[in-house]
Amino acid sequence: MTKNNILTQILDRIKPTAYEQQRMQKVADHIISLVDQVAASSGLTEVSGALVGSAARGTWISGEHDLDIFIMFPEETSNDELKNIGLRIARQVASNADRFEERYAEHPYIHAFFDDFEVDLVPCFRVGSAARIKSAVDRTPFHNQFILERIRGLEDEVLLLKQFMKGAGVYGSDLRTGGFSGYLAELLIIRYGTFVAVLEAADGWKPGIIIDIMEHGNKEHNDPLVMVDPTDPARNVAAALTLDRFACFIDRARQYLCPSVNDPLEQFFPGMSVPLNDAEFDIITGKRGTSLMAVVFDSPDVVEDVLYPQLFMLHGSICELLSRYGFQVLNGDVWTGDGVVVVVLEMEVKQLPPVKKHLGPPVWEKSHAGSFKQKYLQNKGLSKVYIEKGRYVVDVGRKYSDAAELLRNELNTCRLGKHVGKNIQSGFKVLEGRELREIDSHSFREFLTGFFHLNADE
Ligand code: UTP
Ligand code: MN
Ligand code: MN
Repeated sequence: MTKNNILTQILDRIKPTAYEQQRMQKVADHIISLVDQVAASSGLTEVSGALVGSAARGTWISGEHDLDIFIMFPEETSNDELKNIGLRIARQVASNADRFEERYAEHPYIHAFFDDFEVDLVPCFRVGSAARIKSAVDRTPFHNQFILERIRGLEDEVLLLKQFMKGAGVYGSDLRTGGFSGYLAELLIIRYGTFVAVLEAADGWKPGIIIDIMEHGNKEHNDPLVMVDPTDPARNVAAALTLDRFACFIDRARQYLCPSVNDPLEQFFPGMSVPLNDAEFDIITGKRGTSLMAVVFDSPDVVEDVLYPQLFMLHGSICELLSRYGFQVLNGDVWTGDGVVVVVLEMEVKQLPPVKKHLGPPVWEKSHAGSFKQKYLQNKGLSKVYIEKGRYVVDVGRKYSDAAELLRNELNTCRLGKHVGKNIQSGFKVLEGRELREIDSHSFREFLTGFFHLNADE
């Protein structure tokens, strides 16, 4: 089958049918009329609902029923009014839903479930231009307008690109993924014209690439990819994209374009990751000969965009602590599920000898040298002061020769994020080696397969 045929086949799977589109439109219209009614009944005739995001642009993937409905307030509204009245209207609209919850971004908003539709009800200001926004979400209606004016006829290309990005694990600008947002995918299609043309361009990307569709000329960013926001030149649409997601997309694009790869279906719909069972765990850790450790604690009950930056920081702090005491981390990653956080660390060694070298100053730095020698003159420890490469050295006892003991005793002294810090304070466990098999969750075992890079096409 040719690649073009395969793209047609993929589109058949991801393009909403006419029926699905009508149903989506009907639900959206219904909710927007609820917003307008609730606002009007409070005398707020200038407040109105608007559908934005991929549902408004015909760029959503079949089966994903995500409606982004904004509750637009006049620009003069105060921040407090927007917050209070906006949330009150959203709650009242959502009282017609099956269930709903409040979520916090820069402003609070409501996430509601109407049948199989997930609806974000987001209060925002209707400002004159995107340069005058009062909160980050006020840009969205401008994005919507910009895309709507240019995307007709290119929707299928956007769908292919989004699905390809999903297959590569690089879709989503949330802080956990650090990938490409839907808006960024749409802008790439507008810039390059087709799905394949975007991949061909990515084949030649290097960090520091700037795409500036409206030629605003802004170069004030230091990110792997800069997509100058056509509606707000000061902003980089790709600000959340991490270096590794950027590189992964380039790698996958090349793989797709490679003439010898003629079944790219797998790239769009990768098979499920296989969980690592106990026997495989023993084999792989035996072969690698490394030492595993895991820090386990109760997960804070906060949204992922708050949680993940704190987990990445925790991971960084742990590696830094271990390395300060002489332990090298070969690989590390974080997993969450079943209400717990697990930081997995693969160590070159977990046990170091009781002795370590303590470096002093060069002998010719007279005053420092004097006080060093004075201090260690009485060293009851492991050696006298000796000279190596012109410096004084003394062998002393190591404070921690076991990495797990170090973590148990010193993790609390690390720089930790607010919520993670609090939960670590109230208790954590350190698992070692085969004890990690106690974490029996299916999703954790899948994570371990990825941790050791054992997935089919990795
Ligand atoms: P969504 O995350 O729902 O994205 O944000 P989307 O474009 O509708 O894509 P999918 O199909 O649901 O995945 C809705 C709108 O919020 C703005 C964009 O304008 C987007 O269209 N947004 C969201 C951003 O500008 N940046 C973001 O990181 C996220
Ligand atoms: Mn959406
Ligand atoms: Mn959404």
